Amino acid sequence: LDNGLARTPQMGWNDWNSFGCNVNENLVRQTADVMVSSGMAAAGYTYVNIDDCWSTKSRNAAGDLVPDPAKFPSGMKALADYVHSKGLKLGIYSSAGTTTCAGYPASLGYERRDAALWASWGIDYLKYDNCGDHQGKNGQQRYTAMRDALAATGRPILFSLCNWGQESVWTWGMPTGNSWRTTGDIQANWNSVMGILDQQVGLEAYSGPGGWNDPDMLEVGNGSLTATEARAHFSLWSLLNAPLIAGNDIRSMSAETRSILTNTEVIAVDQDWGGRQGTKISDNGNLEVWRKPMSNGSVAVVLLNRGSGTATVSTTASALGLGAAASYSVRDLWAHTTSSSSGTISASVPAHGAAMYVVSGGGLVTPSPTPTPTGTNAIK
Ligand code: GLA
Repeated sequence: LDNGLARTPQMGWNDWNSFGCNVNENLVRQTADVMVSSGMAAAGYTYVNIDDCWSTKSRNAAGDLVPDPAKFPSGMKALADYVHSKGLKLGIYSSAGTTTCAGYPASLGYERRDAALWASWGIDYLKYDNCGDHQGKNGQQRYTAMRDALAATGRPILFSLCNWGQESVWTWGMPTGNSWRTTGDIQANWNSVMGILDQQVGLEAYSGPGGWNDPDMLEVGNGSLTATEARAHFSLWSLLNAPLIAGNDIRSMSAETRSILTNTEVIAVDQDWGGRQGTKISDNGNLEVWRKPMSNGSVAVVLLNRGSGTATVSTTASALGLGAAASYSVRDLWAHTTSSSSGTISASVPAHGAAMYVVSGGGLVTPSPTPTPTGTNAIK
């Protein structure tokens, strides 16, 4: 969406994956504090996002949504002011239907009213879900109505579409929103992360500055994901130019979780637009190679081992699309070391793990065609 936002994939935090409906202003304030003190803000995380269950169960007499006074006693304007005072931005949630997924009032038919209310509070980001009755309207109609309502406020509000990949949202996502969920909900286990990864293949051409495929929020630090699995998850989401929205309780995260989320070398791959998001270039049973062209002529690569034992995963500079060179520089984005290679890029990768490198030398000889997403980017 050509609204000046998400020129690189948005980064931030959202309460849903760890807290579900247990959101309140203290959690949001404390998270904003830790976003700064942990180094996450310095690493690029900006948005502190409230998910479902923030409002009362019905609109007020005027027809407005009302923050639940037990959860947000100070009100949303004060909360936005606080988050802004930290140099961060505040996000909110609604649905393109009559109710949210948790059964709270949502915005279908109230787009202008709700967008104006959020803008008056100082909201910077809307995650817009797909629950509730749709009143016979398709997704594109319902999401376009909110796009136009947000634009009419005059306030820059990042528009995150959450219709779970329905109606091939990637084909109309770019003119409609700044990102679009491509799948159902992620869960904090390896099978879920891999299942979502598989559903990204073929969607590469649709993303770009201003509009990103969204494979859902991060589960780094959550559930049964080990640190090895979490590094693979974070590596792959970055290779996919995914929005990086942390979903853990950052107030109590381990040093290891923090170091994963703040790996600025991996984040730099996510934030680089080299012409297209990363793609899978080989798939040998459980061993996969993913590649993403970088804007400086290097190539980012993830060597993924989905199997249950350590395995060697290999590719070559040529397979990565690099030209001939006497030697290539291989930067390990997790070990933070640089080595040289005569052309083979190989690693011993633990079970459910990934190695991630940026390989340079020879220049990109097979730069990916730069896709031009169709549709008008103009805000109506
Ligand atoms: C849907 C979304 C989730 C979350 C919940 C809230 O399932 O996909 O990300 O927002 O609704 O109820």
